[in-house]
Amino acid sequence: MQVIRKISELRARLSSESRVCCVPTMGNIHDGHLSLVRIGKERAPTVVTTIFVNRLQFGQGEDFEQYPRTFEDDCEKLEALGNDIVFCPNEEEMYPEPQVFFIDPPKVAKRLEGRFRPGHFRGVCTVVSKLFNAVQPQLAVFGKKDYQQLAIIRELTEQLCLPIEIVSAETVRAEDGLALSSRNRFLSDEERKEAPRMRDTMNGIRSAILDGDRKYVAMEYAAGARLARYGWNVDYVVIRAQKGLRRPTEDETKLVVLGAATLGSTRLIDNLEINVD
Ligand code: PAF
Repeated sequence: MQVIRKISELRARLSSESRVCCVPTMGNIHDGHLSLVRIGKERAPTVVTTIFVNRLQFGQGEDFEQYPRTFEDDCEKLEALGNDIVFCPNEEEMYPEPQVFFIDPPKVAKRLEGRFRPGHFRGVCTVVSKLFNAVQPQLAVFGKKDYQQLAIIRELTEQLCLPIEIVSAETVRAEDGLALSSRNRFLSDEERKEAPRMRDTMNGIRSAILDGDRKYVAMEYAAGARLARYGWNVDYVVIRAQKGLRRPTEDETKLVVLGAATLGSTRLIDNLEINVD
């Protein structure tokens, strides 16, 4: 596995490759990321995993400084899986001057995560565009764990006519249902035991919807109140249409529950797709 830090070097290395898959990450590689690389390996002969903790997508008071950086360990895991190239630019390589051009995402980026993390998706869209320009992949893999991010990246590639296929990957979970995330390591033992409740609560919503309940607002409210009773500080638990993440109509068949809430000082997000037949 090659480790490349410079865009010029990466371009030279990839110039003769016919099909390249990009897996953008911020490092601290866990099984969730590895599943993205695995999908990449099935679909392209060359997989480039990028590792860059992108300051632009962290708001003030967020955990940019604390974000776990585990480069050696990440490389070991990626190499064992057959990942071809790790592209790990430093801050200067990605943002050689103060970045003054940004990709300003549409309204959907102001809702949900965007409401609680203003500027977050602007930072994500800007860095992903730059990484796409550096790697120039034919396809890229993103996890459904960051459901809104995936939707926004899809729209970004469509609207900017980028010739890149966006492939989605299912969320990888611990045995008790907790979605794998780099932030799980900040949970205390007690919080870790409590953490699967978000997923359980979403499963409750799914059962109710599959049983015919369509009182979405009441369900959202009850879910938030339930988590709050167990000590969560809830940003949102909402039911949305999978496409466009807008409020669903009663006859909508493709739904998704999205949630974000903080346990102690760790903010967790999760989601659950519901397909009504
Ligand atoms: O999902 C992430 O880890 C990040 O948002 C991404 C896509 C690598 C951009 O920094």
